[in-house]
Amino acid sequence: MIVLGIETSCDETAAALVNSEYKVLSETIHTQTEVHEKYLGVVPELAARSHIEYCDKVIAETFKKSGISLKDIDAVAATAGPGLIGGLLVGLTTAKAISLSANKPFIAINHLEGHALIPRLTDKINFPYLLLLISGGHTMFLSIEGVQKYILLGSTIDDALGEAFDKTARLLGLSYPGGASLEKLARNGNPEKIIFPQPLRGVKNCDFSFSGLKTSVRQTAEKMAPLSAQDKANIAASFQHTICKIIYEKSKEALKIFKKKNANSNTFAVSGGVASNLSIKSTLESLAKEENFKLVAPPPRLCTDNGVMIAWAGIELKNIGIQHSYEFDARARWPLEEV
Ligand code: KG4
Ligand code: ZN
Repeated sequence: MIVLGIETSCDETAAALVNSEYKVLSETIHTQTEVHEKYLGVVPELAARSHIEYCDKVIAETFKKSGISLKDIDAVAATAGPGLIGGLLVGLTTAKAISLSANKPFIAINHLEGHALIPRLTDKINFPYLLLLISGGHTMFLSIEGVQKYILLGSTIDDALGEAFDKTARLLGLSYPGGASLEKLARNGNPEKIIFPQPLRGVKNCDFSFSGLKTSVRQTAEKMAPLSAQDKANIAASFQHTICKIIYEKSKEALKIFKKKNANSNTFAVSGGVASNLSIKSTLESLAKEENFKLVAPPPRLCTDNGVMIAWAGIELKNIGIQHSYEFDARARWPLEEV
């Protein structure tokens, strides 16, 4: 089975062709960083216009690189939400049009479901597994018990983790999106130099909170101003180190909760853009080792937004007989629990 996947929920126009033998036949991604960086964040209207400009080209290139044609595919999948409504409409309408003209089933995918299932493509893991999803818009622990069987164990009560990285990066004068640049800057700093608070520390659940930490970083930076290059690196390193401590503690709690219901599973997966962060990944590696779990972390290009995860989710949904009618509309808000 071959599925075409289309992703346009935020600032990436992406498409991929993936088959049910776990093989990515081709993938293309167009990132809009240039459009948004001068505004220090994604501008929804500009994002939608850029998706209109690139969506057809990205899909055409994906087919060209794969050597297969429209008649060879078995379904068309596209992100239907959650995300920026203008962009979602572009990808979803394009998918419906291809589906209708080529007479192939159409499948609407929840973007978070894409992030949640991608570890099954990269590492062929079985259900159930614990997933830590850390992206620019979401931060949550999910028990992934089957296709369309996702149980929320905990989430952030304020900012998403990627948002906390981006806001701290901005404070340190790094360009948008700042997560990866902050990680780079942190390499030159002392992670023990500044002690930042760990919100919700010791609370025995697996919810996160990052807004108090963000405020503390801002106040510290104001107190230390003007900041030298070394000060900035120390703030970045200490911030990242605090995040790692928070993630360690909360993941330990989540593993405990997950294990109670799933005694026979020892798979812990992480995905979403922030999962590309090497310090976070190595923190999770050590924890998994201590708790006798196996950590599964897809490569960075499949952790950040991409078309492969949407195509793969399409395969998983089609495998259990799911397809959607053209009435299926784009949804700016679409919690995974509603899938
Ligand atoms: O999953 P993603 O591509 O888009 C969403 O669905 O949100 O995640 C983007 C987020 C951004 O906040 C970005 O700054 C963050 O992931 N990110 C990182 C790193 N690479 C990307 N955060 C920390 N360290 C990184 N290396
Ligand atoms: Zn995402």
